[in-house]
Amino acid sequence: MTAFKPILTRHLGQPGSSTIDYYLLNEGYRGARKAVLEMDGAGVIDLVKASGLQGRGGAGFPTGVKWGFIPKDTRKPVYLINNADESEPGTFKDRLLINHNPHQMIEGMIIASKAIGCHLAFIYIRGEFVKETRLLEAAIEECRSNNILGKGIFGSDFDLDIIVHRGAGAYICGEETGLIESLEGKRGWPRIKPPFPAIEGYLSSPTVVNNVETLANLPHILVHGAKWFHSIGANPESPGPKLYCISGRVKKPGVYEAPMGTHLDDLIENYARGVIDDRLIKAVIPGGSSAPLLTAEEIVGLPMDFPSVKAAGSMLGSAGIIVLDETVDMVQACYNLARFYAHESCGQCTPCREGTTWLTKILERFTAGRGRMEDIDLILDVADNIGGLIDFSKGSFGKTICPFGEAVAWPVRAFVEKFRHEFEAYIATEAVA
Ligand SMILES: Cc1cc2nc3c(=O)[nH]c(=O)nc-3n(C[C@H](O)[C@H](O)[C@H](O)COP(=O)(O)O)c2cc1C
Ligand code: SF4
Repeated sequence: MTAFKPILTRHLGQPGSSTIDYYLLNEGYRGARKAVLEMDGAGVIDLVKASGLQGRGGAGFPTGVKWGFIPKDTRKPVYLINNADESEPGTFKDRLLINHNPHQMIEGMIIASKAIGCHLAFIYIRGEFVKETRLLEAAIEECRSNNILGKGIFGSDFDLDIIVHRGAGAYICGEETGLIESLEGKRGWPRIKPPFPAIEGYLSSPTVVNNVETLANLPHILVHGAKWFHSIGANPESPGPKLYCISGRVKKPGVYEAPMGTHLDDLIENYARGVIDDRLIKAVIPGGSSAPLLTAEEIVGLPMDFPSVKAAGSMLGSAGIIVLDETVDMVQACYNLARFYAHESCGQCTPCREGTTWLTKILERFTAGRGRMEDIDLILDVADNIGGLIDFSKGSFGKTICPFGEAVAWPVRAFVEKFRHEFEAYIATEAVA
């Protein structure tokens, strides 16, 4: 455990931390003022590129690079969408940031808007987050009354307003193009890419979609500089502070802020206080339910940053760490996962729509004691037909419109490959009805 002073969550639990008065008293909006009053958009993009900030929504794409894809000469309006859908199972960090410090994220939105030339931004928030929606609406009103949003913000000639839009609670509306469709009032069906949102996004205009945590980092980069940010964490390729959500069979589940690259076993043992009843770890899902699980041996000394987790055969994703202890039934866990994905598939692509249902049915057969030996390879076959074979060096084969296909295929494959003996034991021990 390192001596690290929280950055993103430093105001957590302080009375009044969600109000503008509190935020302004604690150096709030300094970064946004700097971006709006002292810098041009290109300067902000260069600064964020130099910081090395990678998107915290799952893919870890470099934020400044993504902003740089917005065409410079466009005559269309440019939009920013803050992805507050927080739909990945095992992930609950964005909600915390909104609850305790909505202004930090709004400040990030002002900085991002300045960078890309956006004058109307959206927060797409998960429908169930009713309290957070009200908090955000109140915070935006506070900004409007303080000339921090609206016409000529901070006395400049830069206009910006923010609209909060509640989703209806579909996992797929966290995927950026499904989200855009939903924001346009349509069914949340992901779009074929290209064109990418930076070229044709909301209302066919250039659009950037960024995650809540990504945006919350920006005020700090503007105030303390790219070098400061770049120096946080063990791996300069993947720097910054990181919010890790730890759940499952641990004594103290919760959100923990630590430097990027903190070791996975350190996070479980020292932050989340270890496994309930001091049981042994069987496996860990490191980055939300879409990330292939790692065995107890594979997590030892594993730095939790984007490149290191990828090299270990999984992904940092949303940093939703789910701990499975020695008592967890891996067949049941896999069935649970498959059911979730079958329920949440938007149904556009045949491999995903049919494949997730087939996986669920096969696994249901196992849990009902009617599994067959050939079903084990059948699971792998169906998974491969949804989302391609796992080859992180080559990427996926992309059989579906959006990465949801891989998000189910990869973890299911990992369950079967790493715990095949449990699937076999299920067949051997469960009586055939
Ligand atoms: C099925 C699926 C669900 C997703 N859910 C979320 C989500 O809830 N929140 C989020 O920020 N990104 C989510 N993403 C990733 C977004 O598509 C997008 O990459 C992200 O919002 C970009 O923000 P960033 O560049 O700041 O990481 C999801 C992706 C997929 C494929
Ligand atoms: S992969 Fe699944 S969720 Fe994604 S577009 Fe196709 S059917 Fe919909």
